[in-house]
Amino acid sequence: MCGIVGYVGPRQATEIVVGGLSRLEYRGYDSAGIAVLDGSALQIRRSVGKLVNLANQLRHEPTRGTCAIGHTRWATHGGVTEQNAHPHRDASGEIVVIQNGIVENYLELKGRLVERGHSFQSQTDTEVIARLLGEHYQAASRLEAAMRLTLAELRGGNAVVALTTREPGQIVAARCGNAGAVVIGLGEGENFVASDVPAILDYTQRMVFLEDGELAVLSEQGVQISTLGGVPLDKQATTVQWDPVAAAKGDFKHFMLKEIHEQPRALTDALRGRVDLEKGQVLLDELRIDDATLWRLGRIYTVACGTAWHAGLVGKYLIESLAKLRVDVDYGSEFRYREPLLGDDTVLLTITQSGETADTLAAMAQARSQGVKSVALVNAVGSQAARIADGGALYLHAGPEIGVASTKAYTSMLTVQYLLALKLAQARGTLKPEAIRQHIQALIELPGKLARLLEHHELYEKLAVELEHCTDALFLGRQVNFPTALEGALKLKEISYIHAEGYPAGEMKHGPIALIDKDLPVICIATDDTVYEKMLSNIEQVKARGGRVIAIVTEGDTRVKSLADVAIEIPATLPLLTPILAVVPLQLLAYYVAVRRGADVDQPRNLAKSVTVE
Ligand code: G6P
Repeated sequence: MCGIVGYVGPRQATEIVVGGLSRLEYRGYDSAGIAVLDGSALQIRRSVGKLVNLANQLRHEPTRGTCAIGHTRWATHGGVTEQNAHPHRDASGEIVVIQNGIVENYLELKGRLVERGHSFQSQTDTEVIARLLGEHYQAASRLEAAMRLTLAELRGGNAVVALTTREPGQIVAARCGNAGAVVIGLGEGENFVASDVPAILDYTQRMVFLEDGELAVLSEQGVQISTLGGVPLDKQATTVQWDPVAAAKGDFKHFMLKEIHEQPRALTDALRGRVDLEKGQVLLDELRIDDATLWRLGRIYTVACGTAWHAGLVGKYLIESLAKLRVDVDYGSEFRYREPLLGDDTVLLTITQSGETADTLAAMAQARSQGVKSVALVNAVGSQAARIADGGALYLHAGPEIGVASTKAYTSMLTVQYLLALKLAQARGTLKPEAIRQHIQALIELPGKLARLLEHHELYEKLAVELEHCTDALFLGRQVNFPTALEGALKLKEISYIHAEGYPAGEMKHGPIALIDKDLPVICIATDDTVYEKMLSNIEQVKARGGRVIAIVTEGDTRVKSLADVAIEIPATLPLLTPILAVVPLQLLAYYVAVRRGADVDQPRNLAKSVTVE
């Protein structure tokens, strides 16, 4: 959600930076700030709330200068206060920094900094970066060098942009891990940096996208890009289209691929401001149901359609297992034509990317007519579902999803449901703070693991060559990954038009086993969890009948690998978090198969992004 904009050149920078931030407003944020250098005089303005508050402040206390960085913040560590708004300063006050992402090891780093005598002005993880930059600057005397040393200490995905009064007219920007895009805009005698193309598209079409592990030094004269290790790079600029929709696609061939790649950032954004690692607490302040009511709840009734329904099925496992609360899951189109028994101990949970799906909205109306509160998990800000959810709208914060086949919204739906399950566990006393802290730590590490999964595409491209001519495919999974099998099958059929079915693996012997032969690819989710042995025997049954197995396994697996024809590894995580990782290879597989078949990936035939009719 955070937005970054920086400018260096001959013009007054404030207007350019604030204007750029306003183009990123759709992401949502809770505070904003800017640091402007006039020669070596530093001016900082920060304010809580909408960008207009910062703009008003700037009207009363204007800034002057031609080098500036600005930021819109969505709180992660530390509440929404002016002290916590970016930019943050080092101990000398001469270096300022803004950041997107999460410093996974910030507690550890902060502890060491406090031991060395630092006293912090904010509760943010970004101030840790500022302090480290200041310490390294003392030895390195160059911001660029200090940045390399600082980033080497951080764990997690971070986009960091900094400037210092000691090197006026220079901005240093770097990206490590997957914290979303860092775009460098190349102008004539001026240069820009932003977290997304639209922020700077009014000024230049020539852009360079920083990859993970790259650093850029911007000045009026030019931009030098190098690896974090210091090796100079000669990166080609891309000419971005003026059309804002095409521009939003950046370097990607399709929105679906872009959105698959945005998942680490979407997950980070879903967690922002909702967890307190130090206290072992989930906040979810948007929930408008008090803890006493959560404690008394007898059931959650989840209603959704399509991909969101699959997310709801995963949520059932999460909430039942962590919060010991019964969950029923139904399709919107079924729920509305039954007479569902909703007692007064029930809350309706609707899950919807668009917030406009007719069948899902009908369920909310029905619940309301029976005096039952609705909580909506929704992506589209201000949509109907968000407006009518009297129990609270929990936004996914995944950013606009344009590809019809849902990808980043799905993994965000799982992430927010995980938070909801922890919040319920907290209110109902089924998990102790220390256990909740461990779950939060695992959640925080997830975006980094997901980013690693996205590094290799060759495997999927190769597999797509094999699968492009098949007519059917079977997806098998168990327990919390049974819905992953359903979602994998849905992705493949939606965009490649290959008939695919998802099944709980234990049900295979009651029907689908009859289909197995050498031509049927069977995609099995067999990660390291409580049903691993069971999946192993299902895979043996498929192999015994000559089937071809593509398995999703946990890194380091040997037993499934020895049986499967192809094994795709995902990083290890807590068992209930595996669906968030396991679905990603299935998204990529569907994508590359569809591309090989020449299908219209972003707008598959007959499908609509939001189904506002019955
Ligand atoms: C359509 C879309 C699906 C989506 C479903 C539910 O069928 O093509 O991708 O999962 O609607 O949409 P919602 O906006 O309610 O999540």
